[in-house]
Formats: sequence, structure tokens, C-alpha cells
Amino acid sequence: MNSRPLLVTCGLPYTNGPCHLGHLRTYVPADFYVRFMRRKGEEVVFICGSDNHGTPIVVSAEKEGTTPRQISERYHTHFSDTFTKMQVHFDHFGMTDDPTTHARTKHLVSRLIDRGYVYPKIIQQAYCTKCQKFLPDRYLEGICPHCKKPARGDECDQGCGKHLEPGEILEPTCKICGNRAEYREQEHFFFKLSGFQDWLREYLGKLKGTDNAINYALGWVNEDLHDWCITRTLEWGVKFPGHDDLVVYVWVDAPIGYIGFTEEWAAKTGRDWKDCWCGENTRVTHFIGQDITYHHCVFWPAMLHGAGYGTPYAVVASGMLKIDDHKFSKSRGYVVWTNEDYLDQGLPADYLRYYLLSYTSHTKEMNFSWQLFQERINNEVVNNLGNFIYRSLHLSQKQFGGVPEGAVEQEILDRINEAIGQVTGLVEAYDFKGAVDAILVLSAWGNTYIQSKEPWKLAKTDQAAMAQVMRNCLQLAKALTLLIEPVMPERAGLIWSQLGQDSLIANNGFSAGLEPLSPGPLPAPSIVFSKIDDKMTQELDKRLRDRIDALDAEKKPKTPEISIEEFAKVEMKTGKILSAEQVPKSAKLLKLQVSIGDEVRQIVSGIAQFHKPEELVGKDVVVCTNLKPAKIFGIESNGMILAAGDNASLLRPETPVPSGTKIR
Ligand code: 2FM
Ligand code: ZN
Repeated sequence: MNSRPLLVTCGLPYTNGPCHLGHLRTYVPADFYVRFMRRKGEEVVFICGSDNHGTPIVVSAEKEGTTPRQISERYHTHFSDTFTKMQVHFDHFGMTDDPTTHARTKHLVSRLIDRGYVYPKIIQQAYCTKCQKFLPDRYLEGICPHCKKPARGDECDQGCGKHLEPGEILEPTCKICGNRAEYREQEHFFFKLSGFQDWLREYLGKLKGTDNAINYALGWVNEDLHDWCITRTLEWGVKFPGHDDLVVYVWVDAPIGYIGFTEEWAAKTGRDWKDCWCGENTRVTHFIGQDITYHHCVFWPAMLHGAGYGTPYAVVASGMLKIDDHKFSKSRGYVVWTNEDYLDQGLPADYLRYYLLSYTSHTKEMNFSWQLFQERINNEVVNNLGNFIYRSLHLSQKQFGGVPEGAVEQEILDRINEAIGQVTGLVEAYDFKGAVDAILVLSAWGNTYIQSKEPWKLAKTDQAAMAQVMRNCLQLAKALTLLIEPVMPERAGLIWSQLGQDSLIANNGFSAGLEPLSPGPLPAPSIVFSKIDDKMTQELDKRLRDRIDALDAEKKPKTPEISIEEFAKVEMKTGKILSAEQVPKSAKLLKLQVSIGDEVRQIVSGIAQFHKPEELVGKDVVVCTNLKPAKIFGIESNGMILAAGDNASLLRPETPVPSGTKIR
């Protein structure tokens, strides 16, 4: 075994909003990878934590009237709990605002300063004269100098996606008060990223991981690299060494959190964090969202190298997520919240894990919709994998009370061995979809095998032959359970018990898939994978649609306000319907004669679908009486009956009043 543990990390979630599917698209594959490598026999340390610094959290705290630390703690707990529910189990989940990461950041940045990689420079910094403060990053909005789209202070989030340095944004506007900001001179500190160009080119040539990360990074490194301003005028963050009025940019201390959290894990377990982070040939593997590739493949390795630490071995980047074929957007409602929309609806973590791992290649854009989710789970998990495992267990139990005596045929063992090898190769190449597909191919093979052997017929004709088939099937079921555990750990654990195994499934290597099951009784199996029904899918889809519609309606222009004088121009009176008849050839219209005091009005009203003419006669109504006469379906209409809602509920006075009474 390698003397260094394999250290796997996941991009740190910011503590200013709840967990959604976009987050899980990285965490679930990382957890899958960790479980898989452990099953393969590797020692793996799985590290993550919350990213507490940066201006968005300060802005949220100011809005809520609380402190950034309090907000951070709240969301830190939220993420930690949600990951546990999703079966994403980190060995340590820290906070970047905790003392270890503060200290490690100071150490690393001081090293960069001492080695001459940091220099001061006077820059133009946006300043709000009304709020009387400098406006770093998200305190600032404006126009991207590159693509001219609206942008945030540090990032063109709605256009070209470029990182923006302080002073670059056009039309700088204060996000707190909306005032146009001015630029003022201020001294800041820069990291000499440009000096690492050659080293980075060589490093990226050796970096392992996914092509989407490495190729993007090579593209950037082959262009000009700009030095990064690594200080901000803020209270919240890690103080820049020697300057208590400045903190380091959040993208400096966030990745250093990976080291800080490893130190915290090492302190808990009596290990040495340096085994992971120092010297040549580290085994650090970062799982990230593709949007933070620059930070992990360019900025971060350069900082580590500059400060004399080991550099990451691999960067595995997940593609972006779409909801219902729309760009993921919290503000437009194209989002699925992990708790509210999924776990709290009683859906199993395992099913979502399966979808996220198998729907599309890890590096491609992934679409999620409730219909697709239902199809995938029902057709693949339930009809293929679940069906094979249940049939194997059920038939064996029914006929033999459990595992029949005898040996498994070599062909079956070969097939299992081949599948383990193939799936392992795919996981090691970070092709998680390919790996899950290969597992499903094995269970589909099992279904074909059981179907072709028809053991239910052999039960009557050849008990020994049936015993052979069932032993083979149970062995396949055992191997499949081990292989699927990294995808669906909860359900795999249940099947493991149904296979009569006392051990914790996670304590077994894949080789256990080739070890024979002991003959003897098995508990009666129960169905572990059940289908998602249409009603559930429709309800889940409706939640999504209602949210999108509500947010859409909020953005639509509101009905303009009118003055009391304008309102007074509308004349409304009570009336009584004297007669009502259907307008010929119209399904919607009724012709009404309505008494309003000493006058009778003819009114054509579109309420025929909700009111029968004979039931209307004698009813009190409210009429708008000064509407200009109009011809509807060729019939003159002289007023309008007031009705509310989709079913045209008629408005009328609460207590009787003479018809013709004015509404005031
Ligand atoms: O983009 C983000 O959500 C960041 N909070 C990720 C930080 S990852 C790391 F470098 F710490
Ligand atoms: Zn832009």
C-alpha cells in the first residue's frame, strides 16, 4: 500500500445559502470515488469544510442584522447535516474561519512574502461616499469591461465569466445603497502569478484528473497570466500579515482550508498532515465544480509551489447542472433544494445519488427533471438491478430456505471478476457514469441468465439444476451489492443483510464478491427498491413549476397605482338580475337584463361556463355602470357584472340593499 493516504477534497460550500443539487453534483461523485477506492483497498482521507469568508456572507449578515460568524455557523451545520443525510461522509468537515486555517493561511502567505512572490501596488479601489467605505468584490456591481454585461465586483457572472480585478469594473455602483461609487487610490498586495507561467505549463502537463479541468487551465496558462490582488479592505477574513486593516482575498484562505482541515483531522486521529501536503508526489485529489477550475488549476498550485508545499495530484471537475433544460438559476426558480424539494419529500438519498452519478458523464452538462429522474430510477434501478436481486433472493429463499449447498460455476466468477476489473478501471479514469453503466450491464446479464435458465420450472423437474442456478445468481447478487454500495450505500447495506452477511458492507473489499456465500438459511427478502409513481412525480414537478411561476410573476410589472380621483371615475351600483339567456353560438356568453334602481340594463357577460341562466334570475350583483357601451357577439352590452376568480364567483352586498345603490 502507498505510504501516503489518498487525500480527497471537495470544493467548499459558501455559508450563505442552503444546499442544492448543483452542490451535490460534486459531493456525491467525490463520496462515490472515496467509497470505491476504500473498497479497492486504498487508505483514503476525505476532507471538506465550509467557506466562511468573502463579501457575500458579510452582505447577508448586514441584511439580517447578525454577524458573519453566526451566519456561517448556521449554514455550516446545515451543510454538515445535509451531507450526512445524503450519505456523503467526510472524515472531517471544518470551517475556514476556525483558528487552524487562519494560522495556516498566515504561514503560507508569509512564506510567499518572504520568498518575494508578493508585492505592494497602489490601485484604484471603488469607494462609496455615502456609506463611507471601500467596496471590495460583491459590495460592488457594474459593467464587465470585457463583454459589457452586468457584472459583480470580482466576477463577470452574467456574461463572459472572467475574474475581475479591483478597479476593472465599469460604472461601479455600491450594492448597499445603490450610489455610483468613485475610484480612490489605495495600497494593496499582489501575488506574482505571472511568474509561474512556465512552471504551471509543466505542472499541468503532469496533472491528473479530468480533461475539462486540465485543458481549460492549459488554455489560460498559454495566454498571459495576470497577477492577483490578494488583499481586501474588510474586517471579516484572515488578516494579511503585518497589515491589520486588510484581510486576504477569500480565494486565498479557502483552498488553504483544505490543509487546515487536514491538520484538524490529523490532530483527531494522531496522524501527520504533512504526509498529505508536503514533498513531491502528493496524492491530493480535488473534486470541484468546473466553474472554479482557474482557482484550483492555476492560482492554487502556484501558491502552494511558491510557498514550498506539495502540489495537487489530480483535479476532477464536474460539469454544470441544468434544471428542466434551463440554466440553473436560484433567482429564476430553476433549482432543486436538497432538503425542501427532495429529502423532506421522503425520497431516498440513494436514488438521487444514482441519478447524479449515472445520468451523464461527470464532465458534461447534466440535465435534471423529475420525469427523467422517475424514468431512470424505475427502469434502471428498480426494473434491472432491484428486479434481479429480489428474484435471486426470493426464489432461493422460497425453494431452499436460503443459500443452497454447492459451488458457484467458474463462468459466473469470471464474469464477476471481469466486471470488478472493468468498473475499477473506469472509476480510476474518473468515468463514473461508465462505471455505473458497467454495474448495470452485469445485473442485466443476471436478469437474462435467470430468464433463460427458468429456475421456477426447474423447481419441479430438476432440483439440483435449480440449486446451481440460484447459487450462481446469489453470487452475482453479492458482487453487485458490493459494487453498487458506493452509489447507493443505504440500500446496499439492506441487501447485504438479506444476503445473510453480518459484517458492515463498507468493511469489505471487492474481492468479497468472489468469496462464496455460506450455505444455509436466509431471512425472507423484502423489496428494497420501489418505483416512484406518477402522482409523486407530478407533485414534485408542480412544486418546481409553482416556484418558477411565482418568481416570474414577481418580476412582471405590477398593475400601476391609480389616484383616488381616478378610482372615483368608476361608477358601481348594486343590481338584480331579471332575466338571463345563453347567447346563441357562444359557449361563454350570457345575455342578462339587470335592474339597477329605476333603470334596466342589458349586459353581455362571459360567465356562462360557471352559471346556469335559470339559477341567476333574482340574484343580487354588483355592476360597473359607466363603462362605454360595447357590442359583444353583435349584441349591445351596457355595463359589466363584477365577478372574482377563475370560477367567476359573483360579487354581491353582504346584507340586502335596494338595487341601484352606489358602491363607495
Ligand atoms: O465557489 C465556491 O463555492 C467556493 N466556496 C469554493 C471554494 S473551494 C476551495 F478552494 F476552497
Ligand atoms: Zn464579461
